[in-house]
Amino acid sequence: MSPIENSSRLLRWTRAAAFLGRNALTLLGAIITTSTAFTLIVFWMSSAFRPSQNPYQGLLGFFLLPGVFAFGLALMPIGLWFRRHKLKKAGELPDPYPEVDLPAGFVKKVLFAFGGLTLVNVVILGYATYSGVHYMDSQAFCGKTCHTVMAPEYNAYQRSAHSRVTCVQCHIGPGASWAVKAKISGTRQLFAVGLGTYSRPILSPVRELRPARDTCEQCHWPEKFHDQRIVVKKKYADDEANTPLTTILALKVGGRTAAGPTGIHGRHLQETTYVTKDHTRQEIGAVTYRDGKELVTYEVAGAKEPMKGEVRTMDCVDCHNRPSHIFEQPEQAVDRAITEGRISRELPFIRKTSVAALKAELGGPGTAERLNATLTKFYQEGYAEVFRKSRNLVEAAAVELAAIHARNVYPEMKLTWGTYRSNLGHEETPGCFRCHDGNHTSASGKTITPECDACHTIMAQDEENPKILADLGM
Ligand code: HEC
Ligand code: HEC
Ligand code: HEC
Ligand code: HEC
Ligand code: HEC
Repeated sequence: MSPIENSSRLLRWTRAAAFLGRNALTLLGAIITTSTAFTLIVFWMSSAFRPSQNPYQGLLGFFLLPGVFAFGLALMPIGLWFRRHKLKKAGELPDPYPEVDLPAGFVKKVLFAFGGLTLVNVVILGYATYSGVHYMDSQAFCGKTCHTVMAPEYNAYQRSAHSRVTCVQCHIGPGASWAVKAKISGTRQLFAVGLGTYSRPILSPVRELRPARDTCEQCHWPEKFHDQRIVVKKKYADDEANTPLTTILALKVGGRTAAGPTGIHGRHLQETTYVTKDHTRQEIGAVTYRDGKELVTYEVAGAKEPMKGEVRTMDCVDCHNRPSHIFEQPEQAVDRAITEGRISRELPFIRKTSVAALKAELGGPGTAERLNATLTKFYQEGYAEVFRKSRNLVEAAAVELAAIHARNVYPEMKLTWGTYRSNLGHEETPGCFRCHDGNHTSASGKTITPECDACHTIMAQDEENPKILADLGM
C-alpha cells in the first residue's frame, strides 16, 4: 500500500469516527476514561509516597478504578458501533461519510494523537494490572479486607515472631503456578465472603497448603544444627499465693551433624509419610519412615484393620502448625501475663479467678465491663481490705483479661478457647504422641519411641524454686 492510499484510508476513518463519534455513549466513555485516568495517576503517585494501610482505599484504587477505566475505554467503540448499526438499519448511513473541515497536516496529527493516547492507555491498563496483582499479595489485602473473617489470624500473626514475614511467603511461596492457583482459590473465597458461605471457624489444617519445602525452608534451613534448647516454662498454682511452678526442659532439637542426623529436627529430616482419616490429623494410622535406605512401616498395634484415609508426607507444619497464628489457652495467657507483670501476683487467687472469668465469658459487647465486674465482686466480697488498698491492681488485671479475651475469642467466627491448638509438644493436643504413643510398632517389633528422654531432659518439673535456675544465673 502506498503512503497516499494509507493516508486516504486514514482520512476515511477519521471522517467515520468524527461522524459516528457524536453519540452519548462514546462521549460518556471518553469522559469516564479521562477522568479516571487522572484519578488513577494521582492515586498511584500518592500511594508510592505513602502506602495506605486502609484496605478499602486499596480495593478502590487497585480494583474498582481500573475497572471503571477499562469500562470507559470499552464504551467508546461500543457507542460507535451502536450508532452505525442504528443508522444502517434505518438506511441513513452516509456513504461516503460527510467531509470534515481538515486543516493541512491534520491526518498526521490525528495519527500521532491516536497512537499516543493508545500508548498511554496501554501503559495505564498494564500498570493497573501489575499493581492490582501486587496489592493482592500485601498484608492489607490478605489480613484486613475481609476483616471479620481474617481478624483472628491477622491479630495473632502480628504478635508472632513472623510479623515481618508476609502472608504470601507462607501461604503461596515463590513461583507462578502457585500464585495462579492461589488467585483462583482466592476468587472462590471472595465469593464465599460475599455470600457469607465461608466456614466459621475457618478450617484448619489448611487444605492444600503448599509443602513447607517451598515456603518455610526458603528462610529456615532444617539442616542447621540447633543442638539442645533450654526451655523455661513458668506457671502458677491455683492457690491463694499463686505459687510459681517452673518447668525446665533441655529440648533435643538437633539437626544434621557430622555424625549424622540427630535429635528432633535431625531424625525428622528423613522422609516420613502417614495415614490419617480425620481432617484435623489428630488420629494417625500407619507411619512409614525411611531409615537410611530402608523403609520401615509402623502399624497401630492392636487395631482391628489398618486405617484408611489421606496419605500425607510429614513436613515442618506437622509439628509447627501454629508458627504464626498462635492462640492461647486461658491458663497459658494468664500465666504469661503474671510472669510479665501485667497481672499482679500479689492479688490472692488471681490466677484461679482470672482463668475462671476468662472461661466463663462468651465475648461480644460489654466483655471488658463484665470481666471487670467479676474481679471487682470477687475482691470486694472476699478480700475487702486488699481491694481497698490495691484497687488499681484489680483494675489493671481486668484490663489485661479483656485484652487476652479479645485476641483469643471471636464469637462472630465461632472461634473460642482451643479451636486452634498447637501440635508442638503434647500439652494442647496429643501432638508428638500421635505417633510417639508407644503403640506404633513395626513388623520387627520396633516402636516409635515414647521415651521422655528421647526428646528432652526434664531438669525441673513444676518446682517453686528450681536450683538449676539459680545455677544458670537466671
Ligand atoms: C510463618 C508462616 C505464616 C504466615 C506469615 C502467615 N501464615 Fe497463615 N497459616 C500458616 C500455617 C502453618 C497455618 C496452619 C496450617 C495448617 O495447620 O494446615 C496457617 C493458617 C491460616 C489460616 C487458617 C485458619 C487457622 O488459623 O489455621 C488463615 C485464615 C490464615 N493462615 C491467614 C493468614 C493471613 C491473613 C496472614 C497474613 C496476615 C497469614 N496467614 C500469615 C502459616 C503462616
Ligand atoms: C520469609 C522468611 C520466613 C518464612 C517463609 C518462615 N519463617 Fe519462620 N522465622 C522467620 C524469622 C525472621 C523468624 C524470627 C527469628 C527471630 O525472631 O529470631 C522466624 C522464627 C521462626 C520460629 C521460632 C519462633 C519463635 O517463637 O521463636 C519457628 C519455629 C519458625 N520460624 C518456623 C517457621 C515455619 C514452620 C514456617 C513455614 C510455615 C516459617 N517459619 C516460615 C522467617 C521466616
Ligand atoms: C518432629 C517435629 C518437628 C518438625 C518436623 C520440625 N520441627 Fe522445628 N522444632 C521442633 C521443636 C520441638 C522445636 C523446639 C521448640 C521450642 O523451642 O519450644 C523446634 C524448633 C524450631 C525452630 C527454633 C529453633 C531455635 O533453636 O531457635 C525453628 C526455626 C524451627 N523449629 C523450624 C523448623 C522448620 C523450618 C521445619 C521444617 C523443615 C521444622 N522446624 C520441622 C519440632 C519440629
Ligand atoms: C507422623 C508421626 C510422627 C509425629 C507426629 C512425630 N514423630 Fe518423631 N518420629 C517419627 C518416626 C517414624 C520416627 C523414627 C522412628 C525410628 O527411629 O525408626 C521419629 C523419631 C523421632 C525422634 C528420634 C528418636 C530416637 O530414639 O532417636 C525424636 C527425638 C522425635 N521423633 C521427636 C518428635 C517430636 C518432638 C515430635 C512432636 C513435636 C514428633 N517427633 C512427632 C514419627 C513422628
Ligand atoms: C516425641 C517427643 C517427646 C516425648 C516422647 C515426650 N515429650 Fe514431653 N515435650 C516434648 C515437646 C516437643 C515439648 C514442648 C516443648 C515446648 O513447648 O517448647 C514437651 C513438653 C513437655 C513438658 C512441659 C509441658 C508444659 O508446657 O508445661 C513436660 C512436663 C513434658 N514434656 C514431660 C514429658 C514426660 C514426662 C514424658 C515421658 C512420659 C514426655 N514428656 C515425653 C516432646 C516429647
